[in-house]
Amino acid sequence: MDTSPAVDSAPTVRAAILGTGNIARFHAEALSALPDQVEVVAVADVNEEARTTFANHLAVPRSYGDLATLLDEVSPDLVHVCTPPGLHRDQVLACLQAGSSALVEKPPTLSTAELEELAAAEGTRGPWVATVFQHRFGSGALRAREMLASGALGRPLVAVCHTTWFREQSYFDVPWRGRWDTEGGGPTMGHGIHQMDLLLALLGDWVRVSATARRQARAIDTEDVSLAHVDFANGAVASIVNSLLSPREESYLRIDCERATLELTHLYGYGDDNWRITPAPGHEEDVWAAWRSGPQGVNSGHSAQVAHVLRCLRANEAPPVTSTEALRTMRLVAGVYASAFLERPISPADLGADSPFHTRMNGDGPRW
Ligand SMILES: NC(=O)c1ccc[n+]([C@@H]2O[C@H](COP(=O)([O-])OP(=O)(O)OC[C@H]3O[C@@H](n4cnc5c(N)ncnc54)[C@H](O)[C@@H]3O)[C@@H](O)[C@H]2O)c1
Repeated sequence: MDTSPAVDSAPTVRAAILGTGNIARFHAEALSALPDQVEVVAVADVNEEARTTFANHLAVPRSYGDLATLLDEVSPDLVHVCTPPGLHRDQVLACLQAGSSALVEKPPTLSTAELEELAAAEGTRGPWVATVFQHRFGSGALRAREMLASGALGRPLVAVCHTTWFREQSYFDVPWRGRWDTEGGGPTMGHGIHQMDLLLALLGDWVRVSATARRQARAIDTEDVSLAHVDFANGAVASIVNSLLSPREESYLRIDCERATLELTHLYGYGDDNWRITPAPGHEEDVWAAWRSGPQGVNSGHSAQVAHVLRCLRANEAPPVTSTEALRTMRLVAGVYASAFLERPISPADLGADSPFHTRMNGDGPRW
């Protein structure tokens, strides 16, 4: 990422927000904190009351009932796509075709095939598509990533990645939730995807997954729990649990390396205090020195990611998380479903264009 003074003098980014529901507020807050880098020029939502209230609150000059008119009249540099997942593919494609980059909420699309389509529509010098995976951007994750990459922790050996949350049946009253055709999946696709993305950002490429998915308790189309174990190209193995049935909620990530155990315990976001490092005997001094010298003081969250995205756009660089990186995570999600429903281990090569899990996360459908 360019941090040169030239970027500081680059023109401000002209941003628009598409979809003014729950998560759009986090985008608005992140943008409002950086007035010297970005100007919110327009919002759009099919719900007139929602978009008007949102636009008035943010003092955004233009408010539209549809994306096409917004793109036509405003030509923003960046569109924050905060609509339900089933709309992302068409809306991001429309942005790219109009020359606007898109920062799209997770999951970026309903399938890996759709995400590949978006990647193909990007230009090498933009417009780009980036996916919101905000847990990559807290200082703890940046520090962990640096230490793993530099070898300061030794070889990663075994990892645990739990997203054990609780959602009552009423949570699924929102019409797009809990359905394969509109949300793309249950806690694997919609909730644990954040923590799985962070796991992949830290450990790199996965090579094999064996999984189980169940609909244990909620009246929904998708799973409400999944369990998986994953082999990584670097030799590490990880155990993953994604649940919406866990009254004591927690997000937990643990990576045991040769020289230390790294742990993150939080719920929906973390600060430095949520991380813990435990050196192996004989490695205390080196591990603590490396841990203390890394980045500090930045919480995970939309603000942290949006700051990186704006800086890259102003430097004419592809913003994080690129479609290539998001594809790796989406392929793991597809791999969990494919393994669970086909009842066999799955590698990324099994998820190509001839796989039903390429175009639909549920493939030929779960048998429940
Ligand atoms: N990153 C995170 O931590 C996080 C957390 C929650 C939700 N999300 C994601 O954010 C997205 C939105 O979730 P939400 O909870 O804000 O949903 P929401 O239902 O609260 O808001 C969606 C908004 O999109 C609008 N909309 C629907 N169709 C539209 C269209 N065709 N054009 C314009 N606007 C349209 C709706 O009127 C609504 O205001 C989802 O992809 C979800 O998975 C991400």
